[in-house]
Amino acid sequence: MADDDIVLDARSLRKSFGAHAVLKDISLRVERGELVSIIGPSGCGKSTFLRCLNLLEVPDGGVIRIEDVRVERQSGRGWTRADERQAHQLRAHVGMVFQSFNLFPQYTVLENVMLAPRCVRRRPTGETEAVARELLYKVGLVQAMDRYPQTLSGGQQQRAAIARALAMKPAVMLYDEPTSALDPELAEEVLQVMRALDNEGMTQIVVTHDMRFARAASDRVLYVEGGEIVEEGVPDTMFAAPHDARTRRFLRTLLS
Ligand SMILES: Nc1ncnc2c1ncn2[C@@H]1O[C@H](COP(=O)(O)OP(=O)(O)O)[C@@H](O)[C@H]1O
Ligand SMILES: [Mg+2]
Repeated sequence: MADDDIVLDARSLRKSFGAHAVLKDISLRVERGELVSIIGPSGCGKSTFLRCLNLLEVPDGGVIRIEDVRVERQSGRGWTRADERQAHQLRAHVGMVFQSFNLFPQYTVLENVMLAPRCVRRRPTGETEAVARELLYKVGLVQAMDRYPQTLSGGQQQRAAIARALAMKPAVMLYDEPTSALDPELAEEVLQVMRALDNEGMTQIVVTHDMRFARAASDRVLYVEGGEIVEEGVPDTMFAAPHDARTRRFLRTLLS
């Protein structure tokens, strides 16, 4: 595999909070266009892993490369201004979507989507508005673009949050339980958007409790427990015939 085809390459990520080792040597390589689902029990380190991938959380050790930006961490080393610059470059390649949407309540949907390209990238208003409208069309929110977030359903808010992340033209999208706060039919609207992005070739990593989505839409599923990737594979194998006893136990618990 040519390195170009690997969008994200994380090696041996480690992260502790005090004495609690939350991530113990996690590695993940993601190909362009892949949709990777991460499943696992609550508290196993899924959110910490995603947050480390875009350096919202600084890992204690390991290497992260996303596109052409590489950040290496060694335990005991401080966080310098040069590190912060690197982190900034790395984050420019990453779109992040949270369970709780995190839209700016004082701005309309359209303004939410236009804000970062205009303020961070300093793109002209005409251009950012054209891109924002196109993205809102894609996520089915053109009708709602002049409304404020609190007047929208959770599903609409999450689709707006996806459009906002896409406006920065990320190489990879990270989702942390994007549908956990939503009723099933609203969750489905969000999952449809993620499927459409997958069809367009977007690279996506999704922490999810939605096993139906993980099975139907993923190219690959990772099962994480105790801060480690216990097992990974194609969804049909992971769900129908997992190799590891811990994966089997987790899936059994979910079904019962
Ligand atoms: N900022 C933090 N400070 C201290 N402990 C944390 C912090 N963030 C997460 N943790 C702990 O790390 C563990 C993994 O958390 P998290 O990554 O949120 O798990 P998950 O997303 O799989 O539920 C939990 O025990 C959690 O309490
Ligand atoms: Mg979490």
